[in-house]
Amino acid sequence: MAFRKITPRELEGNAYNLFNEDWALLTAGTLEDYNTMTISWGTIGCLWNRPVCTVFVRPCRHTYKYTEASERFTVSIFGKDEYRPQLMTLGTKSGRDMDKMNDSGLTPTNVEGLKAFEEARVILTVRKLYDQQFDASLLPDEVRNTNYKGVADDDLHRQYICVIEGVYVRE
Ligand SMILES: Cc1cc2nc3c(=O)[nH]c(=O)nc-3n(C[C@H](O)[C@H](O)[C@H](O)COP(=O)(O)O)c2cc1C
Repeated sequence: MAFRKITPRELEGNAYNLFNEDWALLTAGTLEDYNTMTISWGTIGCLWNRPVCTVFVRPCRHTYKYTEASERFTVSIFGKDEYRPQLMTLGTKSGRDMDKMNDSGLTPTNVEGLKAFEEARVILTVRKLYDQQFDASLLPDEVRNTNYKGVADDDLHRQYICVIEGVYVRE
């Protein structure tokens, strides 16, 4: 599949829906050793005069080992309702237990020396700018008691605020 490089300013679509509705794959690691997982929490916007994408990863995810070890990731955003069975598998099975990259039914591709997925509608290449784990003592009760019911304090999401270096759209 062919992709065209655009600038972050040219990216079309509703930033809320890009994650919440469309879903994405966060992929980190090297071309030889990487992992991917489905994400539907994320933001795209502006910070410190830079175009940024923020993603949220719990330490229990296998992907976390890779986001911690990597400086750059890809975020492969899918079209609305596209590839849902595959994204559901990649969002419920762990790379610890299955060969996700070869058995997911999606096609890994190389972008700027990183792995992403060919069936995506938009691929972002991003570089970590600032990352920090959520602090349990600062979470609103409402969030602690719903989103993190039964979750240990040290397994709250880590937020990775990343600068967007490349934006590719499917032709
Ligand atoms: C629709 C959907 C959205 C998800 N969003 C996130 C997310 O934003 N952050 C996160 O840590 N896990 C999220 N998950 C859960 C991970 O994708 C899931 O735990 C996955 O199996 C982790 O794989 P891994 O162990 O190979 O990293 C989501 C799952 C689904 C199905």
